[in-house]
Amino acid sequence: MSSTNTLNVDFAMGVLSGPSIIESNRTLSDLAWIFADQAACEALDSSRVVYRVQSFQPGGDDTGGGLCWCATFLESGLVGDEYFMTAGHFHTKRNRDEYYSTVLGRGALILMDEARNSRVEWMTPGSTHYIPASTAHRVANIGPTRLSFLACWPSDAGHDYETIRLRGFSARLRCVDGQPTFVPQP
Ligand code: PA5
Ligand code: MN
Repeated sequence: MSSTNTLNVDFAMGVLSGPSIIESNRTLSDLAWIFADQAACEALDSSRVVYRVQSFQPGGDDTGGGLCWCATFLESGLVGDEYFMTAGHFHTKRNRDEYYSTVLGRGALILMDEARNSRVEWMTPGSTHYIPASTAHRVANIGPTRLSFLACWPSDAGHDYETIRLRGFSARLRCVDGQPTFVPQP
């Protein structure tokens, strides 16, 4: 293995380090389209970082059989009554699966199949979630502190955000009376 393929994972914090890590941020302005309450979103600082991603993709994006490894750090917050969350996506190649494994914090993994049936799995440190093929996935931070999770998926899966941009998920996770509540969308 060449040194550029060296990866270190701090399993206490979920932080990756190594020479080939790619870092990216998603701010409220990048994510405005995912939240139901546009007025509440516009009232917040649009430069605020909602989540940061570190990814390690030694085989690039088109290597059949390759694997990617990634860490996501999702801040705590609300847009109206909706928790800070990831954009969410299907895999472009629908028959590609994924693992998410929680390191720190409390979250909700929102899953939706292609028939738009949705469900939620609760994320706590150590909980490891198998995301099956043809299943859109989005994570919401339902706790008072940052949520950190690790992911592993086939490097040729691709991220299809467009399908979510067009129709959204069929349910939203809302904070109702202080409790995360899974609310179906019309
Ligand atoms: O590949 C994945 O599913 C994750 O690494 C996500 O890309 C990451 O958690 C960020 O979420 P999203 O891609 O939906 O913005
Ligand atoms: Mn994915």
